[in-house]
Amino acid sequence: MRFFGTMKNIDGMLNIGGVSVDRLAEEFQTPLYIMDTQLIEENIEKFKKGFVSEKFRTEIVYASKAFLSKTMCKILEKYSLHIDAVTAGELYSIKSSGFPMEKIHMHGNNKSNEELLFCLENEIGSIIADDLMEISRLAQLSEKTDKKMKVMLRVNVGIDAHTHEYIKTAKHSSKFGVSIFGDEIYLAVEELLKSHNLQFIGFHCHIGSQIFDEKAFLEAATLMIEFTKKISEKYSFKIPEINLGGGFGVYYTHEDSEIDIQSFMKKIIIHTEMELDRMGYSIEKLSIEPGRSIVANAGSTLYRIGDKKNTFSGEKYVFVDGGMGDNLRPALYQAKYEAVIANRLNEPLGDPVNIAGKCCESGDILIKNIPLQECQPGDFLLIPTTGAYGYSMSNNYNKLLRPAVVFVQNGRTKLSIRRESYEDLLKNDLN
Ligand code: LLP
Repeated sequence: MRFFGTMKNIDGMLNIGGVSVDRLAEEFQTPLYIMDTQLIEENIEKFKKGFVSEKFRTEIVYASKAFLSKTMCKILEKYSLHIDAVTAGELYSIKSSGFPMEKIHMHGNNKSNEELLFCLENEIGSIIADDLMEISRLAQLSEKTDKKMKVMLRVNVGIDAHTHEYIKTAKHSSKFGVSIFGDEIYLAVEELLKSHNLQFIGFHCHIGSQIFDEKAFLEAATLMIEFTKKISEKYSFKIPEINLGGGFGVYYTHEDSEIDIQSFMKKIIIHTEMELDRMGYSIEKLSIEPGRSIVANAGSTLYRIGDKKNTFSGEKYVFVDGGMGDNLRPALYQAKYEAVIANRLNEPLGDPVNIAGKCCESGDILIKNIPLQECQPGDFLLIPTTGAYGYSMSNNYNKLLRPAVVFVQNGRTKLSIRRESYEDLLKNDLN
């Protein structure tokens, strides 16, 4: 298993952020999400170092759907990042952390009026409109409340980037955004331009998630600049901003050739500067929205091993005390992970096994066919790279409790989200 960030082998026991995993398990129970604060900060710094230009301002907007907690918001605030939200729930959570409202940007298809009002009343940074009907509703609500709002329009640039079908977002058939190839886009721009309270600031695209193909991002940038220029000229209105979304691929297993963030950010900047020059256009601001590439490798899930079983057909199972409740990705996207017996790092790897969770579902298998150290009940299994879309997609299937999330740094622990209790499971269940 590849080690990330501050992971260390101390006498066969895995340490993260200067804390041994057996101590973490004792204090916070298992399953447990462990976030390596230093690695999150290093990832943010890589973005900040690479994503700068002398020609235009740049903004890094963290995609909160990847992982959101008050502790995370504090880290983002410390580094002056912005945050996006997709629902009122995410907005409310970000607001509760005390995060500056003007640095929050609201995404999402089918935003409700309640969500749009929440944005207007709280004077957030901008709304990224997803369709024509939303723009009309937003224009009306902004009149009614007499609130101004900056608005970007999410467009679909028709790029079919190579990733899992469920996390592609810019195919022509995608539910997101308005196609740059159809007629509706003109109606959407016109609706925005005629509104008194809505300030149209630019186009947004997001071509998908966990994408390794750097060319796809650069191609999207070119299309976005071309389109922005075309629309600016058509309406004699200088469109000042472009947002290229997130989606930068990270390492889960040796099959993934992750994107080197700092150097790729430089490439995007240089490419954008050159394309703007070539087309004779200028922008005031370029934004991106990374989620996974900031938190995925910084998060790990720690489980305790229970029983083992060999099936009649010869499959070997090792059971852990979590599963698809805390990590839906293997069941949903056939996502692959590495793992290690975290208290037996110095022991040799044995035969491949399947790591299965405890949900009543045959598909509740976290990893298939992985060679692991010989393990016993009570040992610890650690799966790295669960920092993105692990906690945020966790669920209570079979009334399993959502695990705690603890941040670790320099030998210190900070409980960020406490483990659910049985009372939590019943708090909305009325007699
Ligand atoms: N911006 C927009 C508009 C997005 O829709 C997304 C992700 C991002 C930014 C951040 O993408 P990232 O940098 O994290 O790849 N649950 C799936 C991923 C869904 C991504 C949805 N949108 C998974 O576990 O792989």
